Amino acid sequence: MPASPEILRKIKTLREKIDDADYRYYTLADPDIDDYTYDKLMKELSDLEAEYPDLITSDSPTQRVSGTPTSVFKSVNHSVPMLSLSNSYNFEELIEFDKRVKNILETDDYEYVCELKFDGIAISLTYQNGLLITGATRGDGLTGDDVTQNIKTIRSIPLSVRGGKIKNFEVRGEVFICKDDFLKINEEQELKGEKLFANARNTAAGTLKLKKTITVASRPLNFFAYNFFSSDVQIKSHTEGLAKLKELKFLVNSKTESVNDITEVKKFCDKIELIRDELEYEIDGVVVKVNLLSQQDKLGSVSRSPRWAVAYKFKAKEAITKVNKIFCQVGRIGTVTPVADLQPVFLAGSTISRATLHNFDEIKRKDIREGDYVKIEKGGDVIPKVLEVIKNKRKKNSKPYKIPDKCPVCKTKLEKPEDEVYYYCPNYNCEAQILGRIEHFVHRNAMEIEGLGTSIIEIFNKEGLLNNYADIYDLHKFKKEILNIERFGEKSVENILNAIESSKEKPFDKVLFGLGVRHIGERTSKILSKNFGSIDNIIKATADEITAVHEIGPKIAESVVKFFKDDKNLKNIERLRKAGLKFESEKKSAGFKINENVNNKTFVLTGTLENYKREEAQKIIEDLGGRVSSSVSKKTDYVLAGSEAGSKLEKAKSLGVKVIDESDFVKLIKN
Ligand code: IVH
Repeated sequence: MPASPEILRKIKTLREKIDDADYRYYTLADPDIDDYTYDKLMKELSDLEAEYPDLITSDSPTQRVSGTPTSVFKSVNHSVPMLSLSNSYNFEELIEFDKRVKNILETDDYEYVCELKFDGIAISLTYQNGLLITGATRGDGLTGDDVTQNIKTIRSIPLSVRGGKIKNFEVRGEVFICKDDFLKINEEQELKGEKLFANARNTAAGTLKLKKTITVASRPLNFFAYNFFSSDVQIKSHTEGLAKLKELKFLVNSKTESVNDITEVKKFCDKIELIRDELEYEIDGVVVKVNLLSQQDKLGSVSRSPRWAVAYKFKAKEAITKVNKIFCQVGRIGTVTPVADLQPVFLAGSTISRATLHNFDEIKRKDIREGDYVKIEKGGDVIPKVLEVIKNKRKKNSKPYKIPDKCPVCKTKLEKPEDEVYYYCPNYNCEAQILGRIEHFVHRNAMEIEGLGTSIIEIFNKEGLLNNYADIYDLHKFKKEILNIERFGEKSVENILNAIESSKEKPFDKVLFGLGVRHIGERTSKILSKNFGSIDNIIKATADEITAVHEIGPKIAESVVKFFKDDKNLKNIERLRKAGLKFESEKKSAGFKINENVNNKTFVLTGTLENYKREEAQKIIEDLGGRVSSSVSKKTDYVLAGSEAGSKLEKAKSLGVKVIDESDFVKLIKN
């Protein structure tokens, strides 16, 4: 059926709305619609495109994630070579650079633009007729890899530019991953038993080279644009180029500044070095560029580096200091982690007096001893680590570190599972674990109870008011007692109690995360809450049913089952439920349109569907309250079979599970 003008208009409006929402969210960081509305727009668009596949365009927001994995990355020749920068490490070298610029330009009349030097991956984007045609890595500067499919998942990169005169252009910039996101990705890698990334930059690089776009899309890549070339418009300066990039809705870093001379450049570098740790992304210096393009041309380049730009690299984030002592911390699940207490040393913006030693294997491998001098590094994460021991500074009488056999907090004998590197304190009532569980529960990523910080939790615990997280919701009964504790006034107690009260509004996935089930991070909590809909369904679920959920492995499933078998945990959950916390996911309680044919039903998808990609079908099912499982069992309600369905179809038939085809499915969901 050909599309009516009305449908065409509808599709166009939806695409514009989604693009605008992406721009506001990812580029301006000023969203104006909520996730739910966004998902609805996206669903409406993909439904229409499924109905009218001829209308799908390469710049439709639905095309950011493609289902087909890339087999090999093609090579791309860069129209203008992608140069690298020469480095300078101190102010004297910056002055040398400035002298050379002055000599060649034969004038004092020039301006510098100071930008951050992002520690990511340089990428070139080519647009033709307003459409993003290619995204390529730098490679050797002349030829790079075609990573267009992966680049398209980055929502701050426009897939097309509409209207306006500029249609053919190239944008260069840096793909990066925020520090926070890097930590989360590594947490997930660890859970999946996969290799950890060394830092945010390697994560971005590794992600860009993945063959599965779906995995790429799940990793929050980002892009700062810093270079613009176009045959459609005459620009005179670097800053004009940046302005054009902003106009075209690219994300341009807001810290960029134009300055008049090299002393100002120095001031900028010093200023940035001080705030480096506060930035959400990694940088390793400042890039200084001569602003006028005519002057850039005059300066030219030598051996692949331009003479009009220089990188001012921050000092290495390494230092040498002494290990005063090695002590152990006990986490909320009893994990014992050794920590080095260091002679305080100033490193890249802050004073460091502690470094994690991860586990006892690591201490043994690096042979770190108390009294040793060690080289420490401040890496992608905020917690510094010990790189190596300076062996020739070691005292003759030093002795290898001895692993403690008792918990440093409660003195219970430590245990070590055979297949793990960690030692554990097995005592559930160990004070460190008690406090750790409460701290985790109130954390801003969980119940976000502001004002109930570590020191206050400790005080309440000492006073006997707080022994587990369920006690938090009884604290209001002890207001008098709390007011009697030194340093607590009416106002501060009121604030804490209010924060506790408002935490009851937190959605189910946050509550689930707060419970502190081992191996259940924020993302897994979301996945579980979405798939099971309520705590009762999770409590009832078997390990097999949990593993059947996409992205959930046996290790997580085992841990969930174990947690919800434990009476102590079930009791706490009951108390929390009575206190009014949410134990059902929003969509259901907020009257989300549940489709009775699909709600609470388990689907298995097999074979190729004609009008839906598998992820789309999955999303539709989940949005309507159903679940998608990867294997057929007696509990499966429907097997949705496309063409060339294989063994799952056979299994469904043998178990007598209902098999439906695509048209049945459409009827089910339209109901
Ligand atoms: S300009 C010739 N600007 O640094 C101009 N590069 O060594 C080169 N980089 O491959 C690019 N932040 O990956 C430029 N604000 C910035 C940058 C930047 C990071 C990286 C880029 C490039 C490398 C050059």
